[in-house]
Amino acid sequence: MQRTSEIRLAELVAALSLATDLGMGQPLEYALSVCVLSVRLGEALGLDERELREVYYLAFLRHIGCNAETYTMANLFGDELALRTDAATADLGRPSQAIGLMVRSIRKSYTDASPLQVARLIAHGIVASPQVMKESFSGFCEVAQRLAARLGFGEGIIHALGQVFERWDGRGTPAGLKGEQIATSMRLVSLAQDAITFHRLDGTEAAIAMVRERNGTMYDPHMAELFCQQASKLLTGLDEEPSWQTVLALEPGKRAYLSDEQFDTACQAMADFTDIKSPYTLGHSSGVASLAAEAGRRCGLPEADAITLRRAGLLHDIGRVSVSAGIWGKPGPLTEREWERVRLHPYYTERVLARPSMLAQLGAVAALHHERLDGSGYHRGLPASMLSPSARILAAADVYHAMTEARPHRSPLTPEDAASQLQREARARRLDSEAVSAVLAAAGHRISTSRSRRELVGGLSEREIEVLRLLARGHSMKQIASRLVISEKTVDNHIQHIYLKIGVSTRAAATLFAMEQNLLASVD
Ligand SMILES: [Fe+2]
Repeated sequence: MQRTSEIRLAELVAALSLATDLGMGQPLEYALSVCVLSVRLGEALGLDERELREVYYLAFLRHIGCNAETYTMANLFGDELALRTDAATADLGRPSQAIGLMVRSIRKSYTDASPLQVARLIAHGIVASPQVMKESFSGFCEVAQRLAARLGFGEGIIHALGQVFERWDGRGTPAGLKGEQIATSMRLVSLAQDAITFHRLDGTEAAIAMVRERNGTMYDPHMAELFCQQASKLLTGLDEEPSWQTVLALEPGKRAYLSDEQFDTACQAMADFTDIKSPYTLGHSSGVASLAAEAGRRCGLPEADAITLRRAGLLHDIGRVSVSAGIWGKPGPLTEREWERVRLHPYYTERVLARPSMLAQLGAVAALHHERLDGSGYHRGLPASMLSPSARILAAADVYHAMTEARPHRSPLTPEDAASQLQREARARRLDSEAVSAVLAAAGHRISTSRSRRELVGGLSEREIEVLRLLARGHSMKQIASRLVISEKTVDNHIQHIYLKIGVSTRAAATLFAMEQNLLASVD
């Protein structure tokens, strides 16, 4: 039986594959289907358990390098995610298909450009793309190999990840490997992936026709023939995505679990996976994680919450992979459509981390990092009462760290200017003032002890005032805990502190109600 503090390696990597689905312009859970077909095809080929295990994990990890070089691709071709969606059905060994792909991408991405500008972009793309694509594919593989090593995978997987873009006929890249020089697992997963794409678009016959046509060019003839012979059986039930549990149950060999330390290393690797999407965000997730954890401790959160904050900080932006690097790198104002995509990145963070429970706990905090106390945040626009102390701290840490980093439209702010802006956000009641103070202290700022809002009310903190207000309105401990997204034990702690600070029974509703009016008058 799995202990709640443990996470299975297969679960973690399957979750990561949801992010790479987005990064490849594919629907969520696409890689889960690829994994099922890959293992079935491997069994049909008579692979042993070790080989099947490599195939199983490679199906999840194949696109783990997808964020590398996206900035360069977006600069040349426009929306790299749309390009990748289109490329999923192309045979890039055929120049006509490769050029057609590029031309379509540029036309779709630069709809506001004049015909002359589009023609120039296409001409530039044709000249530059062979070198850019080679470098991009190399970068993709190198990053994939580095991340897989940090996730603890062995030589077999790492070796195969260097061959993502190789082809049976030797016309692939970066090494131009041929035939059985390419790892069995990579040959198999490449075929399975394309078969899933065509099967989803046009059914089993379309998948068979595609594999038959590419037999001996893109694919290993033995694998291609076997697939065509058994396609109906191999694709059974894959009209829709397989269930999470089905895919996990399929893992060949012994199940592996991560220790706390390995899980931390994996979260760090996922943070780096996220941040390489843009040269402007390198180190962002790690920086936010450190700040948020230290701020949590300064706010008096239990150590377990500080650890959650650190991990949630590492993972908070993983949903950024769903947005084109061209949008993240745009120096001018975003269009409404582009802004809508940006607004959804915390949603995708939550979706990627929705399973298993250990990731879901982190996702519940991470997905709130753009919410604001006045309800003006995204993606949900939640009110203050729905934002836990951890969510408030993470939001403040994210804003502070982002302000000290360069963005396409501005230079980085000095720490002092970032601190001033953060304090302005707190005064405007968009960010929590306690969280802001803790983040600034964690970042090394000396926090002014000038007469603050909370000092006006007997030294109560904002959170204690919130508890007091809800008590005064007749809410039970349970209701308060639910409203403030904290535990009943924490509510009880707040009540005891309130009693100690103001010297009256916090449970005396009439007194509290009278006090509340004073509080409202002094606070608002
Ligand atoms: Fe974000």
